[in-house]
Amino acid sequence: MLYWILLLISIVAVYLIVNPLITMIRLKIKFGNAVYCKYLPIFGIIQVYRKSFKLTGNVHQWIVDIVIKHPEVKFVVANSINKPIIVIIDSEYYKHIYQDHHLVTKHDQSGIKDFLLSGGLLFTEGPKWKQQRNLLGDHFLFQKLKARIPMINLVTKEKINEMANVEKVFEFICSITGEVVIRSFFGEEAEGWKINGKEAQIELGSILASFIKLRVTNFFVYFKQKLLGVKSWQYCTKKEKEIMDRVIKLKKDIIEVIFKRRDKIKQQGHKQEGGDFLDLYLKIFMEQNVYSSDRIETDEIVSQFITLFLAGTDTTGALVANSLLLISENKQYLQELRNEVKNVIGNGDITSENINQLVFIESFLKEVLRLKPSVVYPIARKAKSNIQIKDLYIKKGTILLLGNFLANISTQNYDNPLEFNPRRWLQQKTIKQDNGFINIPFAAGPRNCIGQHMAMIEARIILAHIVRNYDIIRNSQVPKAQWPARGTQTYLPDNAVHLVKI
Ligand code: HEM
Ligand SMILES: *[C@@H]1O[C@H](CO)[C@@H](O)[C@H](O)[C@H]1NC(C)=O
Repeated sequence: MLYWILLLISIVAVYLIVNPLITMIRLKIKFGNAVYCKYLPIFGIIQVYRKSFKLTGNVHQWIVDIVIKHPEVKFVVANSINKPIIVIIDSEYYKHIYQDHHLVTKHDQSGIKDFLLSGGLLFTEGPKWKQQRNLLGDHFLFQKLKARIPMINLVTKEKINEMANVEKVFEFICSITGEVVIRSFFGEEAEGWKINGKEAQIELGSILASFIKLRVTNFFVYFKQKLLGVKSWQYCTKKEKEIMDRVIKLKKDIIEVIFKRRDKIKQQGHKQEGGDFLDLYLKIFMEQNVYSSDRIETDEIVSQFITLFLAGTDTTGALVANSLLLISENKQYLQELRNEVKNVIGNGDITSENINQLVFIESFLKEVLRLKPSVVYPIARKAKSNIQIKDLYIKKGTILLLGNFLANISTQNYDNPLEFNPRRWLQQKTIKQDNGFINIPFAAGPRNCIGQHMAMIEARIILAHIVRNYDIIRNSQVPKAQWPARGTQTYLPDNAVHLVKI
C-alpha cells in the first residue's frame, strides 16, 4: 500500500516538475540565446516575484535585469507550478496577440473574474464582447466625455476641500477616481452611496484588494486556486467566505440602485440626453425583446459597473500617485507644472476648451506611464488552440504574458531610456523605430483600453488641481519607495509622499 502511495506521489511530483521543462528545452533548442529560462520547481513565477521584491523592492526588477543584461532576449520562459509561462518581450511577436485577440482567452484563476467581472467588458468574448464594445465605445470618445469634465472638476475640488494634508496619497486619489466612475455610471443618485457601512468606492476597492491580497499572501489559497481554479471556492476558508459575503451584499445593493432607476424611468420616461451609463443600459434593457439571443440581463449591468470601477479606479489612481512620487523626487518639475496650470486655467476650472492646452502635464503623464505603467502586464492570456506566430510555436493552453512595458529600457526604442524626461514626448520622433506597439500603456489592438481618454482627462484635471493646492513633499522617513505586486502598480508605503496645502 505504502509503495503505491509513494509511487503515485512520485509520479505527480515528476509531472509537476518536468512539464514546464519540456517547453523550456524545446524553445531553448530552437531560439538559443533569444530565450531565457527562469525555472523554479513547484513554486515558479510567484516565488520569482517574491524574491525580486525582497532583494530589490521591485517585483519586476528580475526581468528588467535579464533584459538589460541580455538585450537579445525575445522570450523569457518561467513556470506557474506545472504550467509553462512565456513572457513575450519582442514587440514583433506580442503584436500578433494584441491584433488577433481571438487566438487567446484572458486567463484568471483568482475568482475575481467569476464572481465579479465575468459579464463585463474586460472578460467577455465573441459576440457579447462586440455588443458591449459597440454599446459603450461611443460614450468613451472625447466628444461624449466632454460632458463629464465639470463633474470631474467638482469631485476633485470637493475632495481637496476636505483634506488640508494628505498622508495616504494613493487612497486619496482613488477616492476621487472611484467616485468619478460611480457618477459616470449612476449619476447623482449614487452621491453618498454606502455599501456595508462604507463609502461605496472604498468598499468596492477593498473587496477587490482582498481578493488579490488573500491569493498573494496565503500559499494555501494560492495553491488551491491554481490547482482547482474557480472550483476551489467550493472549499472556502473562513477568510474566503468573508469576502464572498461582502460580494453578495455588494451585488444586492447595486441591483437595488438599478431597480430604483428603472422605476423612476417607468414614471418619468427616458432622459433625452446627458444620461449616464445606467440610462444607456436601461434604455436597451427595458425595450429589448426578452426572447432575443443577445438580450441584456440585470447581472450583466452589475458586472459591467464593477468592471468599469475596477478597470478605472486604481489604474488612474496609480497614474496620478506615481506622478506625485516622481514630482517629489524631481522638484524642478513642480514649478513648471504650476506655471502651466496658472497660464492655462488661472484660478478657474479645466474645461473642454482648455484641457488640450495642458501640454506639459500631458507629456509628464505619458512619461510616468512609460516608466511606471499602472498596468504592467495586461491580464495573462491563454492560447485557445495551438498558435504559430512567425517562428514561435505555442501549444494550446500555454500561458502568455505580454511584456510590452520592457520596451522602457531599450536603447533601440528610446534615447537615454533610463532617464525620466517628460520633454521627450514634445519632440517630433520620440520612439526610434515605432511599429505602433512599443509605448502602449493602454494596450493596443481591438481590445485596447476603452477608458484611455477618460483616464487622461481625469489625470490631467486631478493633477492640475493638486499642484495648484498642495506642496508635494517626499517623506524623508521613507528613504526608498517599493513596488510590490498589486492589481495595479503603485508604490509602498503609501505615505512615501505627503501633500500639504499651500
Ligand atoms: C491610467 C489609467 C488606465 C490604464 C493604464 C489602463 C490600461 C488598460 C489596459 C492595459 C487594458 C488592456 C487589458 C488587457 O488586455 O488585459 C485596459 C482595458 C480596459 N480598460 Fe483600461 N486603463 C486605464 C483606465 C481605464 C478607465 C478610466 C476605464 C473606464 C472607466 C477603463 C476601462 C477598461 C476596460 C473596460 C477595458 C477592457 C476593454 C476590452 O477588453 O474591450 N480603463 N485598460
Ligand atoms: C520600466 O518599467 C518597469 C515596470 O514599471 C520598472 O520596474 C522599471 O524600473 C522601468 N525602467 C526604468 C528605467 O524606469
